[in-house]
Amino acid sequence: MNKNILITGGTGLVGSKLTKVLIDKGYNVGILSRKKTANANVKCFFWDYTKNEIDINAIKFADVIVNLVGENISNKKWTKEQKLKIIQSRVKSVELLKSKFIELNKKDFDFISASAIGYYGTFTSDKLFYEDDDAGKDFLSDVVKKWENAVDELIPFANRVLKFRIGVVLSSNGGALPKMLNVTKKGIGSALGQGNQYMPWISLDDLVRLFVYSIENIQLKGVYNAVSPIHITNKEFMQVLAKSLQKPFFMPNVPEFVLKAMYGKMSSLLLYGSRVSSGKLVKTGFIFKDDLNAVLSKL
Ligand SMILES: NC(=O)c1ccc[n+]([C@@H]2O[C@H](COP(=O)([O-])OP(=O)(O)OC[C@H]3O[C@@H](n4cnc5c(N)ncnc54)[C@H](OP(=O)(O)O)[C@@H]3O)[C@@H](O)[C@H]2O)c1
Repeated sequence: MNKNILITGGTGLVGSKLTKVLIDKGYNVGILSRKKTANANVKCFFWDYTKNEIDINAIKFADVIVNLVGENISNKKWTKEQKLKIIQSRVKSVELLKSKFIELNKKDFDFISASAIGYYGTFTSDKLFYEDDDAGKDFLSDVVKKWENAVDELIPFANRVLKFRIGVVLSSNGGALPKMLNVTKKGIGSALGQGNQYMPWISLDDLVRLFVYSIENIQLKGVYNAVSPIHITNKEFMQVLAKSLQKPFFMPNVPEFVLKAMYGKMSSLLLYGSRVSSGKLVKTGFIFKDDLNAVLSKL
């Protein structure tokens, strides 16, 4: 019998694509959402972690939970309130799930969670980061540490707990790419800041394939970096983007102070970055199919 997959944050960029792919593969899919009628094609279960409300039928339904919920980190400036929302939407939501696992004595399920490479800290270096490296010391590292700790609290309940530290997801439907595409289409593509910062990335198609792979390969557990093995700097990325749009690439780099004035502390996401290894994941047999040129021309 096909498994029941419950996706938290299933209406988002990754969740919508994953939902479609899982349905096509014959899985029964349900989503946990703050909107009661979020998607007509699947079972929709309501929750609101801010009020401690959740439809417990969602918990009863799930053989596998794919946890993708979280206030978007790059849509709004990082005010004090926004920072709290970014943390609580990840931590309190998992705590709410845990309280229901206890209440219903729920066992025998898999928990597969998104996490982020922000864990390692947002700065530029040539160091290659691996899963057992220490967490960084900035806001995003703090978010991810708290998020992963909350997820690890589920280990006593689930058959297995899995966390993917995801890099920048490339898709034309959302995330960082459409903003960069707009600039480059106008012929003003240029590197951001120093341009030498690394941009660990993964295509949306590869990431969705990875979630399906992790549902189907039950030997996977623990934490894995989910980034393409192809390392690229911001300057190289913007060059490939300009080339694939047949646009010139001659403008001087956008200075740091401009991005800082536009985005405040959030500008660190664009200005800094180190390399992250996906070697542990590749050793499990997972194959990244997309190279950057192919992704950009597809988009
Ligand atoms: N996209 C990336 O580049 C990237 C990179 C690294 C890690 N990740 C992580 O991967 C996960 C999925 O990413 P995504 O790009 O698909 O995210 P997304 O498009 O921003 O969607 C996240 C979903 O979470 C729910 N949500 C948003 N804010 C919330 C809040 N304040 N309280 C409760 N629920 C809230 C929403 O579902 P409802 O409105 O239906 O409730 C939303 O559809 C996220 O946890 C993200 O942090 C993403």
